[in-house]
Amino acid sequence: MKTVLLSLILLFYSIGLLSQENNKEIIKVSTHDLTMVFTTSVNEKVLFQYFGDHLSDASAFPGKRFKEQPDNGTGYAPTLYPAYGGRYFLNPALKLTHADGVLTTDLVFVNQETKNLDANRIETIIRMKDTLYPVFVDVHFMAYQKENVITQFVTIKHQEKKALEVENLASAYLPLHAESYYLTQFHGTWAAEMQMVEEKLTHGIKRIESKKGVRTNQSESTSFLLSLNGPADEDHGEVYGGSLAWSGNFSLSFEVDECGVLHTLTGMNTFASTYHLLPNETLRTPEMVWTFSSSGKGQISRNLHDWSQKYALAHGDRLRLVLLNSWEGAYFSFGEKTITDMIDAAADFGVEMFVLDDGWFGNKYPRNNADAGLGDWQVNREKLPRGIDYLAKYAVDKGLKFGIWIEPEMVNPKSELAEKHPEWIVKSGKREIIPMRNQWLLDLSNPAVQDFVVQTFDEVIALSPNISYIKWDANRHVDNVGSDYLSAGDQTHFWIDYVNGLYSAYERIRAKHPEVMIQLCSSGGGRLDFGALRFHDEFWPSDNTNALDRVAIQYGTNHFFPAMATSSHVSPSPNHQTGMITPLKFRFDVAMSGRLGMEIQPKDLAGEDLSFAKQAVETYKQIRPVVQLGDLYRLVSPYGENGWASLMYVSKDKKESVFFAYSLKYHGRTTFFETKLKGLDPAKKYTVKEINKHSGSRVFWGDGQTFSGEYLMKAGINLTIGNPFESAVLLITEF
Ligand code: GLA
Repeated sequence: MKTVLLSLILLFYSIGLLSQENNKEIIKVSTHDLTMVFTTSVNEKVLFQYFGDHLSDASAFPGKRFKEQPDNGTGYAPTLYPAYGGRYFLNPALKLTHADGVLTTDLVFVNQETKNLDANRIETIIRMKDTLYPVFVDVHFMAYQKENVITQFVTIKHQEKKALEVENLASAYLPLHAESYYLTQFHGTWAAEMQMVEEKLTHGIKRIESKKGVRTNQSESTSFLLSLNGPADEDHGEVYGGSLAWSGNFSLSFEVDECGVLHTLTGMNTFASTYHLLPNETLRTPEMVWTFSSSGKGQISRNLHDWSQKYALAHGDRLRLVLLNSWEGAYFSFGEKTITDMIDAAADFGVEMFVLDDGWFGNKYPRNNADAGLGDWQVNREKLPRGIDYLAKYAVDKGLKFGIWIEPEMVNPKSELAEKHPEWIVKSGKREIIPMRNQWLLDLSNPAVQDFVVQTFDEVIALSPNISYIKWDANRHVDNVGSDYLSAGDQTHFWIDYVNGLYSAYERIRAKHPEVMIQLCSSGGGRLDFGALRFHDEFWPSDNTNALDRVAIQYGTNHFFPAMATSSHVSPSPNHQTGMITPLKFRFDVAMSGRLGMEIQPKDLAGEDLSFAKQAVETYKQIRPVVQLGDLYRLVSPYGENGWASLMYVSKDKKESVFFAYSLKYHGRTTFFETKLKGLDPAKKYTVKEINKHSGSRVFWGDGQTFSGEYLMKAGINLTIGNPFESAVLLITEF
């Protein structure tokens, strides 16, 4: 009896041990400061175990037990890539219909591979397959060591007899378990993009998505923050930063389940997008960009800025030029003389590049307003008889570079292109093609249209050897979807094929024109995502140039995207979008916190304003390396209730810093602004100098004095600003 009992005890014990040991593989994806851990389980599932601060030893994870489901004893363990099937109660990352009509998929581990691509990038591929069908799913990670960013994407292929219907193929799934979750999302509309809102997630699903096809970031952004156990703070707390690198329809879902676990799924939108995947064809998802910080969201931004400068932005190591854009100064009404006058003035201002915006093309249907000419990329001979080359050379002779505007994905109904190629226009059978801004969309799922877009770029660049910069616009979304190119059965491929067609055109253009600077514009920030940004040097965050609104828009935008790429232009007052009157200094102080430019008719500036503007351009050139290449520290949020905003940039060696502060409303006579600085070296001494003063007025009592970094960061500084649109810029240099 005793021996039976003993063997029973031993048997139970060894079963226990077995189930512990059956977790065979431990897969770590690590950067210098972050680690993701996955393990394989008894039944060969790949479990998602951890994403957080760097872990050198992950050996305990296989033993981790999850609460068991009552009737079959399996744990509520989250998997790396949940597929629809089995005991399923959440939104799946993968949902497909097999060739025989079976709706479920059961993914198990096949193998994993880790490669050091270079000193900074480690690639890991986790391969899985279905238990019954020849369906293969790989999850690819890239761990950027120094920048502490991990990107991931998924590929699927199969060897079934007929096409698979892929209904849902997420880029990433992230399970988290905490007391509470706070989501910061960025929403907006034309002229009010990237407005920041934070909320506590409750049980159920919160979903952020776009079905616009093009300009998908205009009203909801693919970038977000998730903070655990409290709202996201700049310097404290665990925060995840996520950004889907995709310029098409997307979906981000945040589901708090019955166990209190948050399941985040990100990827292309599944709406009306079933993809018929042929045997041996590969479908690849967009990249999901992740970072994490246990010391607040400030570090999230700094990680993403460093990463994008190196990996998701063209020429991220080069300083951006100060430019004058013709749009708000001339709109469609210009001739050669208008432009050469503007170039003369720009040269006089110390501006480094002139950009000719919309209105320079079209002959049969001249582009004199937004109604006609789009698609006909030939110089309007009446407006510009000596062509673009004359203007570009004129600019270069004055010491400026020259740039030009295009919108190659679009066409006006009144254009030679629309007459010639009606089959290139996105349309839903015989239904009305709904115009937006009087224009239609070209069908980039069609390779002939991709060729046309590439050829347009080539031809425009060829208008002059002196064109250095292209502003690429896209001013509408998709209505009444449909493609004359795609087969009747594959119309649902449009959403994915359009974006892949666009990316393929970008790639071809970049291969041919690696040196050209390209601005990403889409009625403002309608296409602001890392998928498109990687082909561009900078972006236009909003058509709203009103400095007050720009403070909030850029503050939101710069949570993810770096200042060097944030085109920020001084425009006329009263502002053309809002009618608001603001002082020139305020407009410059705001624009100088990004990539400074001007969107103004220079001859409208006179007297003190003129000399201030010239001086401000020179001042910007001095602070530019710190603003464009330094680390961003946010000090006071314009989204707070107090009507202030403040931020600073600190050079990597902490020797120099530039500080900005803005009063956004009237604060009463007694209230004043005070803030502690960040990011400096407490042991260094710094001289603080107020710069960009208008009419010699001074708002910092310590102007020109020397302080310790410790003092500036612990005691802080106070400024005598408080009226609406008062502002200050301080240059902080090691003593
Ligand atoms: C869009 C852009 C503007 C300008 C106009 C020209 O609205 O965002 O900056 O280029 O088009 O039509």
